Amino acid sequence: MNATADRALASAATQAEPILRVQDVGLVYGSSTVALDGANLDVPKGQLTALLGPSGCGKTTLLKIIAGLIEPTAGAVYVNGKPVEGPGPDRALVFQDFALLPWATVLDNVAFGLRARGVPRKEREETARHYINEVGLSGFEDKHPHELSGGMRQRAGLARALAVESDILMMDEPFSAVDEQMRRKLQEDLLDLLKIEKKTVIFVTHSIEEAVYLADQVAILTRRPGRVTKVIRPDLDRSGDVDVIRRLPQYVELVDEIWASLKHYVE
Ligand SMILES: Nc1ncnc2c1ncn2[C@@H]1O[C@H](COP(=O)(O)OP(=O)(O)OP(=O)(O)O)[C@@H](O)[C@H]1O
Ligand SMILES: [Mg+2]
Repeated sequence: MNATADRALASAATQAEPILRVQDVGLVYGSSTVALDGANLDVPKGQLTALLGPSGCGKTTLLKIIAGLIEPTAGAVYVNGKPVEGPGPDRALVFQDFALLPWATVLDNVAFGLRARGVPRKEREETARHYINEVGLSGFEDKHPHELSGGMRQRAGLARALAVESDILMMDEPFSAVDEQMRRKLQEDLLDLLKIEKKTVIFVTHSIEEAVYLADQVAILTRRPGRVTKVIRPDLDRSGDVDVIRRLPQYVELVDEIWASLKHYVE
């Protein structure tokens, strides 16, 4: 394909109807805590959108609104053009600690969301084994969360989220509790997984590097009351290995550009 056709395709991709639209969303907690005010965001299908912003700016709140766990006090969220009115099988939310059930095995934890959906036991277990294998946890099906390392628990949580086979996966700082080596491995594995799974992912992180490395688009939020102030599309050549990507001039420039947008929030 020639460069012109490539560009035309890329432009068609960015103009495509988003799978998810956050429109003028506001959220007031109680009588006075304005967490979000006028938040707008389009999330393209099959891409990873990272949310970056100062602590307390409303990122988790926004994920909960998208998940349908809390209702916005203004505006609305649309999935494929339909307003979100509560939780649904099209959206799965993964919390930072993955909230694994401590008394249940890896297999039961991964199959858990399917039981709630009435999937028969045999099928649940087959699906769970498939995703356990996909995240690299084969052989640990019968272990309990306390018998796993932090990184393995994250993988189990990811397998559980994948097992419900929602199109949209929301992840709230999923890799923030593991060490840097494990974090890098999980990031690479997530990108590999997404090549197979083709999910739409909304990923909250505090790490600019993580956002630039993982995301097709990075949405930057302002300090509370949060709203999206800037959307950047890294458009990196990800064909090389992670160390090559992190040294690309474009990668380094993007990290600097985003830091320039965020640093005044910490001054
Ligand atoms: N249940 C709640 N009741 C009242 N206020 C809340 C509630 N949850 C969050 N808030 C407030 O709303 C604001 C946004 O919180 P939120 O957890 O969405 O931020 P965040 O961007 O996820 O922060 P962090 O980066 O620290 O996780 C904060 O000021 C927080 O104190
Ligand atoms: Mg949060």
